[in-house]
Amino acid sequence: MTMNPVMPTYARFDVAFERGEGIWIYDTQGRRYLDALTGIAVTGLGHSHPAVAKAICEQANTLIHTSNLYEIPHQRELGEKLCREAGMDGIYFCNSGAESNEAQIKLARKWGNDRGVNNPSIIVMEQSFHGRTLATLSATGNRAIQAGFEPLVTGFVRVPFDDLEAVRKVAESNSSVVAVMVEPVQGEGGVHVPKPGYLKGLREICDAHGLLLMLDEVQTGNGRTGTYFAYQQEGILPDVVSTAKGLGNGVPIGACLARGEAAKVLGPGTHGSTYGGNPLASAAALAVFNTIKSDELAQNAAQQGEWIRQALRERLADVPQLVEVRGKGLMIGVAFNETITELGKLALENQLLININGGGKVIRLLPPLIISADEAQELVDRLSDLVKKLFASRQN
Ligand SMILES: Cc1ncc(COP(=O)(O)O)c(C=O)c1O
Repeated sequence: MTMNPVMPTYARFDVAFERGEGIWIYDTQGRRYLDALTGIAVTGLGHSHPAVAKAICEQANTLIHTSNLYEIPHQRELGEKLCREAGMDGIYFCNSGAESNEAQIKLARKWGNDRGVNNPSIIVMEQSFHGRTLATLSATGNRAIQAGFEPLVTGFVRVPFDDLEAVRKVAESNSSVVAVMVEPVQGEGGVHVPKPGYLKGLREICDAHGLLLMLDEVQTGNGRTGTYFAYQQEGILPDVVSTAKGLGNGVPIGACLARGEAAKVLGPGTHGSTYGGNPLASAAALAVFNTIKSDELAQNAAQQGEWIRQALRERLADVPQLVEVRGKGLMIGVAFNETITELGKLALENQLLININGGGKVIRLLPPLIISADEAQELVDRLSDLVKKLFASRQN
């Protein structure tokens, strides 16, 4: 075998997948796995969803790309549907989560500069994750992700997550602050759900100080937490919201939506992307959006997620290392007081795809929104057996 030329930016498992169907994915040896990770919250409709496959095939046979120099009817239709759903007035299309957050950051800076604010800055959170580009890794609350890439992009003020007082203090004392940027549920940081009323509290602070409330719904969006966007459960509207991941079910596409005055900030020549929302990606995302709505998949995510969390609490009640089972919809974290890093590999060997994060102490589950009650049961059975097996092996 020749050396793999792909730069080792990821510590990969030694397995390759060949095909998938629904929640199931098959490796090159034909072994079948239960996919409770969905390519990190991407394939919400499961693998090989017929509506998405059809839209992609038809569009690929017709026209894949034209650039944003011309009208793109599917992009416009998708934009209208997403804006209506989100309560937003404008949308910018790009290709990934990081890019959708870059758009947020640029929008906030221009908003501030247009209003004469000197060096506009953005309040961001500890343990947050916003992407790997220079601006988004600078916004990210994880030193390991930033290390080695200094000088970081300036203009971010960091406060603890789920701490309204900390945000209020900065908003009151720092006149360069123009926006607050936050994930409604922190994903990469270890599936952290804020206390009820957090987003509402942030909305009030932003209103009192004329700041933009900017939500990163890259992971929480597109039905994952039980509503199309997570903030729809909190009775508030942000000024700006970014999303990606589940938007295209695997076809790269991201979006930054904005409302009111914030939707007027990015004018001709201020931002752009060659591919963003091209005919292929927009056709795929339209099929995804329509299916999430017609099949009531956000509701299924809410129901199955609640059931899985409760079932895991019961099944793991006798595991002393368990701290808690938390999450929203099908964004689920199982936290322990010991590191469980090996569980990722053990699960893979047992044909179950999961992810370990939160400093190696949290199992993150991101099953597809189409998960059935039987599949949810199978996930709980397989995972709780593996957890018990792991801790039993440590006692010997
Ligand atoms: C909340 C959040 N924002 C941004 C990103 C970055 O998205 P991408 O990897 O598509 O650039 C992620 C990815 O995990 C994320 O979870």
